[in-house]
Amino acid sequence: MTTHFDKQQPHSESFTPFLQQSKAQRPRYRALFSYIQQRILSGELPTQSRLPSSRELAELLSLSRNTVKQVYEMLLAEGYIETRHGDGSYVSQQLSLNLPTEHHSPAPDAEAVRLSAKSRQLEQIRPLFHQHPQQLLLPAIAALDQFPWQQWQRSVAHAGKQMKFSSGRNFMGEPALRSQIAAYLNATRGIRCDMQQVMICSGSQQGMQLAFSMLLNPGDKVLVEDPGFPGIDGAISNAGGIKVSVPIDRQGFDTDTVLHDSQDARLAFITPSRNFPLGFTLSLERRLQLLKWAREHGCCIIEDDYDSEFRFDGPPLTALQGLDGEHCVIYSGTFSRILHPSMRLAYLVLPPALVDPFNRMRGFMDGGLSSLPQLALADFMARGLFTSHLRRMRKLYKTRRSYLLQRIDETFSQQLVWEPSDGGMHGVFLLPPGNDDTAIAAQAVNEGLGIRPLSYYYDKQPPRSGLVIGFAGYNETQIDTGVARLKPILDSHLKSAL
Ligand SMILES: Cc1ncc(COP(=O)(O)O)c(C=O)c1O
Repeated sequence: MTTHFDKQQPHSESFTPFLQQSKAQRPRYRALFSYIQQRILSGELPTQSRLPSSRELAELLSLSRNTVKQVYEMLLAEGYIETRHGDGSYVSQQLSLNLPTEHHSPAPDAEAVRLSAKSRQLEQIRPLFHQHPQQLLLPAIAALDQFPWQQWQRSVAHAGKQMKFSSGRNFMGEPALRSQIAAYLNATRGIRCDMQQVMICSGSQQGMQLAFSMLLNPGDKVLVEDPGFPGIDGAISNAGGIKVSVPIDRQGFDTDTVLHDSQDARLAFITPSRNFPLGFTLSLERRLQLLKWAREHGCCIIEDDYDSEFRFDGPPLTALQGLDGEHCVIYSGTFSRILHPSMRLAYLVLPPALVDPFNRMRGFMDGGLSSLPQLALADFMARGLFTSHLRRMRKLYKTRRSYLLQRIDETFSQQLVWEPSDGGMHGVFLLPPGNDDTAIAAQAVNEGLGIRPLSYYYDKQPPRSGLVIGFAGYNETQIDTGVARLKPILDSHLKSAL
């Protein structure tokens, strides 16, 4: 019988690489198991070769005999070696069928794992910006230093205790949170729903994925705002949908032509309270037109109400869902902007007929979310902390926006012209025509600014050049710093463009 260790190579040499490994990272038994496992899988230890006895190996490696025995038992249990009575341990004969005959390096043109056509399609979609928390003037960052951390910690502790009584998995979300959200929406957003219609999602991004996958067949058309929120592109593509871009004007989504021309669309995705990113509100006339279109063609409207809580000159506008008597609107709200971007909690308000199908899908998709953050948020809302934080932030963001507008006006006068909006967390500032907003924003990123180019949000419509500048998450000193960093960038670009 071949004894690979003792005939072809002395044990000490076979184990030299193991002895040279750093000892700090993992337990020795785990390291020795992996070492022998890898040598067997790579074919360096051929099948039927004999392993040294546990006593020999323990001496060689200065390990306890129990450690080596434990490793041999693991190798035996997982099928790498077999024992022969009175004759020690051998590399398993069974492995000869499946192990590579030679050291295997993949053929140069071989793909490690083949991706589906769907995922290849995602490579064509405009990539999303990565938010670096250190960047200044990011458009969708809340005032995190104002978050009531102590109160939140109390809610988290309370949730930890509540979990004892939580009855297990809830695909739609924790009833306590759904009930708080339903009460809040009925009271403040003019939404007509009961808690049974509220589904908790991990960010509205997940809600979109779910909604598009449940409502679209491959090839179905989806009306989207242009400029609009690029975060939905992946969800539409994933469901095989085809975007039909709808221009935006000061009345919002231009329903006049598009609804006439797109009778065969299945769905519309819109931000009626405040178009993202321009901030225009969909007029009542167009709201009614859109609802009529949906009703007459059996279509659905997804209303993305991402930051309408921050309307500065009056209470938030009534949601489109509140006008919908026919149950064709899915309302989507998020806590990412109001509370914290990493909260990853959002919700859909579903028309009653969609509750069961969505619930079923959720069971297959992820089985619902972790109950701990949901229970914490439910407690936070029940104690009135959510609404009081919201009230404080509304005032604060209004002040911060005024400060940004004043600083931009003083520093850039006619070079950056504000596109008025009644609220939000960012401002849109138009550049004189002919300026390259992408180049300006790219340079701004190098200077630690999270400013976005307006043209990025356009898809098929002719883009306007401008800068999307966040103010909500930044105090006056930070806004001053941001504007000071932007000044030389804009000066150099605007000069060269003239
Ligand atoms: C317009 C719009 N809709 C939806 C979202 C997604 O929010 P979430 O973090 O809940 O996925 C964002 C994120 O900023 C957004 O800007």
